[in-house]
Amino acid sequence: ALRQSIPPKAQIEKQRFLNHVQPQASYKVAILGAAGGIGQSLALLIKMSPLVSSLHLYDIANVKGVAADLSHCNTPAQVVDFTGASELANCLKGVDVVVIPAGVPRKPGMTRDDLFNINANIVKGLVEAVADNCPDAFIHIISNPVNSTVPIAAEVLKQKGVYDPKKLFGVTTLDVVRANTFIAQKKNLRLVDVDVPVVGGHAGITILPLLSKTKPSTTFTEEEVQELTVRIQNAGTEVVEAKAGAGSATLSMAYAAARFVESSLRAIDGDADVYECTYVESNLTELPFFASRVKLGRNGVEALISSDLNGLTEYEQKALEALKPELKASIEKGIAYAQKEA
Ligand code: NAD
Ligand code: LMR
Repeated sequence: ALRQSIPPKAQIEKQRFLNHVQPQASYKVAILGAAGGIGQSLALLIKMSPLVSSLHLYDIANVKGVAADLSHCNTPAQVVDFTGASELANCLKGVDVVVIPAGVPRKPGMTRDDLFNINANIVKGLVEAVADNCPDAFIHIISNPVNSTVPIAAEVLKQKGVYDPKKLFGVTTLDVVRANTFIAQKKNLRLVDVDVPVVGGHAGITILPLLSKTKPSTTFTEEEVQELTVRIQNAGTEVVEAKAGAGSATLSMAYAAARFVESSLRAIDGDADVYECTYVESNLTELPFFASRVKLGRNGVEALISSDLNGLTEYEQKALEALKPELKASIEKGIAYAQKEA
């Protein structure tokens, strides 16, 4: 009897083989802007995900080589390339998560808002195609200025009659990644333990790390709060200046975006314990869009976590009030653009 309960060797080997070649789940992810600095590194990280069966890479040029290269990695996801507007619809059909890092990055001396004129139009066009071909997908917007491109995407989806505010996300994960890194370094904490909510938006003073909500519970001097907050707010510029004209953060951004994709896929797959900070339609403040921690579920945002905004320090409360006019203006600029172009 004992003998019979042991699976035959061939069966064990078959299972071993399947464990290696079959994904644990079969979700489809598309990256729009996949041949770019963020897109390529992000594609590599997503190719490593056991939750992904199909990875669609889209760009206006140079995507064939990226896909050929990636496709040789012996991980389950099938890589398929799509070049140019005529192939965009096919890229998007049946996709569960669409990530959009298409657009131009900053050079030293520029603000994210200086990218508006070029990137607004790129995001608008891509989101129109998303609306037409995979209106139920989670949409992750990376292209800057995020504070305006997310409201543009919302307007476009509304115009197409398919807007689901629970499934449109501005990717602010990099702000959390940076906050966790800088705070762990400063306070000598174990990196894996540190989690800091970052709220507001994704540009300058609109990026508001809530240091008083750091986990594990940590105390900071006033000087430390000031220094860390400013460093987190200027971290994008720190990279832009270090790259000296060759672009902005790509590797840390890809890392952060891959984390947000993985969290989204886990939520879609039924994991009931997925929380991320992200810039979404919100009623936590008087602003129509606001980044906060959210609970993610199968259908997108399941709940906005309001408790992080309770019991703020005086510094945080002031910073929150100070960021509102700038964030409001960026939101209104995005909405006005999308309405004018409709
Ligand atoms: P990049 O120039 O290296 O890559 C951009 C890619 O987009 C290029 O391959 C380009 O061909 C492609 N592209 C342009 N127009 C397109 C279109 N219509 N359709 C499809 N693809 C198109 O730039 P990058 O460093 O990868 O940065 C991309 C964007 O991400 C920038 O706007 C940057 O500011 C932003 N960004 C955001 C964050 C964030 O935290 N949200 C972080 C870093 C960078
Ligand atoms: C970042 O925060 O690194 C990005 O938004 C890119 C930039 O322009 O700073």
